Amino acid sequence: MTKATNITWHDAAITKEDRRAQNGHGSVVLWFTGLSGSGKSTIANAVSHELFRQGINEYVLDGDNVRHGLNKDLGFSEADRNENIRRIGEVAKLFVDSGKIVTTAFISPFRSDRETVRALFEEGEFIEVFIDCPLEECERRDPKKLYAKARRGEIKDFTGIDSPYEAPENPEITVRSDQYTVDEAVGQILTHLREKNIL
Ligand code: ADX
Repeated sequence: MTKATNITWHDAAITKEDRRAQNGHGSVVLWFTGLSGSGKSTIANAVSHELFRQGINEYVLDGDNVRHGLNKDLGFSEADRNENIRRIGEVAKLFVDSGKIVTTAFISPFRSDRETVRALFEEGEFIEVFIDCPLEECERRDPKKLYAKARRGEIKDFTGIDSPYEAPENPEITVRSDQYTVDEAVGQILTHLREKNIL
């Protein structure tokens, strides 16, 4: 039997494009940013459910979860937040390479950190989703009672209280989470994905 000659494809790495083609959809990061209590995790998980229901390969990286594992050595100083976001950006890039739509739900308060992450990606792969909710409303909701603690001085460097939040200047998507329902927010984000031919 003659040896096969066309075997070099075994050595060639499977590419992002191969995985996208097999999945039948694009792969991007939906990078949520917004204040604590703005609804990032809630909307991210609702998007994830809807994508999953449609048979899309997706995953959510969530601030509170990642901080229990990969980033449990990090706190909330500016340097630690820089490192938190840097690591999440690198992980998100791996997910995009794996062919998935990955949603990240981190405050990511600093514009420069978000721009550094954006620069890791190819054009169109990084979709910044600003979950826009006034501080007063986030503080009124206070789902984890952290704003109350921050006001009492029991937590320091709390975003919106004694640590800054730099809103995006040109996000691909802005969701007014104080004006629209979670379902409407999901609809808005999925419409964007369809318009960009990712779905
Ligand atoms: S980020 O600024 O580094 O992006 P991340 O999203 O990972 O923050 O974590 C934010 C979550 O940690 C908040 O939703 C809140 O539950 C909790 N948290 C604890 N301390 C702080 C703090 N000082 N500032 C903001 N969030 C805090």
